[in-house]
Amino acid sequence: NKPTNYGDTGRKLTGGAGYIGSHTVVELVQDGQNVVVIDNMHNASFEAMRRIEKITGKKVPFAPVDILDKEGLNKIFEKFDIWAVIHFAGLKAVGESSKIPLDYYHNNISGTITLLEVMKAHNVKDMVFSSSATVYGDPPIIPIPETCPTGSVNPYGRTKLFIEHIMRDLCTAEPEWNCALLRYFNPAGAHPSGLMGEDPRGVPNNLMPYLAQVAVGKREYLTVFGNDYKSKDGTGIRDYIHVVDLARGHLAALKKCHERFGCREWNLGTGHGSTVLEMIAAFSKAVGRELPYKIAPRRAGDVPNLTADPTRANKELNWKAELSLEQACADLWHWQSNNPEGLLGPTAA
Ligand code: WQD
Repeated sequence: NKPTNYGDTGRKLTGGAGYIGSHTVVELVQDGQNVVVIDNMHNASFEAMRRIEKITGKKVPFAPVDILDKEGLNKIFEKFDIWAVIHFAGLKAVGESSKIPLDYYHNNISGTITLLEVMKAHNVKDMVFSSSATVYGDPPIIPIPETCPTGSVNPYGRTKLFIEHIMRDLCTAEPEWNCALLRYFNPAGAHPSGLMGEDPRGVPNNLMPYLAQVAVGKREYLTVFGNDYKSKDGTGIRDYIHVVDLARGHLAALKKCHERFGCREWNLGTGHGSTVLEMIAAFSKAVGRELPYKIAPRRAGDVPNLTADPTRANKELNWKAELSLEQACADLWHWQSNNPEGLLGPTAA
C-alpha cells in the first residue's frame, strides 16, 4: 500500500552527508521529494546537513545510523513511512581495501545485506545503488556499454561487483523488487553555490581533490601516475562527470521505479574521456595559474581508460550529463577556495 503519487511524496531514505549523497539530497529536495537521511559519519560531517539546509531552505530529517545496525535501521523504518532507498554507504578507498579487506567486505557487503533485510521486513523494495565503473576492471571495449563483461582488480571493486550480484539474485528470486545499479564514472566538481563539495579526510586518493589541495597550497604538486599509457599525451583517461549531473541521475533512477524493471545497470558518465594532463590544464584555467605536477610511474591497479557509453541511461532514464568540464572545474575551485579546510574549517561562503 504505497502512495500512488510516488514521484513526489513517498519518503526516500538515503545516505546524505558524504560527497555524492549530499548533492543528491539537494537535487531531491529541490525536486519536491520527501527525504530522510542516515549516515554513520565515517567519511562525512554534520556540517554537510547544515549546508544542505542552507542551499535548499528546508530542514531534512537526519539520523546518525550505520547500515550494519539492524535495530537502528528498524527504528528508522518504523518511524518514517519509507518508499524507496538510495544506498551510498560504503568504504571506498581502493588502496586501503587491499590492506584491510575484511573491513571492506564486512562494511560494504554485510551492511548492504542488513539494509536489504530491513527493507524487505518493511515491504520496501525499490533500491537505487551506488555502483562504480570499477566493476568493468580493465574493459576490452571503449566507450564501455553496460553489457561489457565485468571483472575487478581490488577488494573495493569486488565489494561493488558482489553487491550487484546479490541484488540481481534478489530481483530474480523476488520479482517485486527494483534495484537500479548506477555505475558511476569519475565524479568531479562541487555544488555551484560553493557551499558543498568533496571533503576528503587525510591525503586525497583521487585526482581532482588532490589537485584542488595543490591549488590552495596544502600540497606542493600533483604526482601524475604514468605517462606511458596509450593516449594522446600518455596519461590515463577517465570520464569525469559533474557531481550535480551524477546527483540528478539518482533522481532519474528513482522516477524509473514507477516501472518494474527488476535489476538493471546504468552507466552514469558523459561519454567523453579526458587525460590527467587535460584535467590539470582545465583546472589550472579555472584557478588562473599553472598548477605544478611531476610525472611518476604508474599507480598499481590503475587501468588505462574508463570512458562510459551512457546511451542506455540517456534512453531509459531520460537523463543526460549536461554540465561541462569547465563548469566542474569552476565549481570545484569555488568550493575549495571558499572552504580551504573543507566543511569543518572556517568558511568564506
Ligand atoms: C583518476 C586518474 C590516476 C591521483 C577511483 C576508483 C573508483 C572510484 C573513484 C570511488 C587516474 C590519475 C590520480 C593522483 C594521478 N571510486 N591520478 N595522480 O582511479 O579512476 O577511480 O576513484 O569511490 O572506483 O577506482 O580515480 O581520481 O584516483 O584517478 O595521476 O594523485 O588520475 O592514475 O588516471 P580512479 P582517481
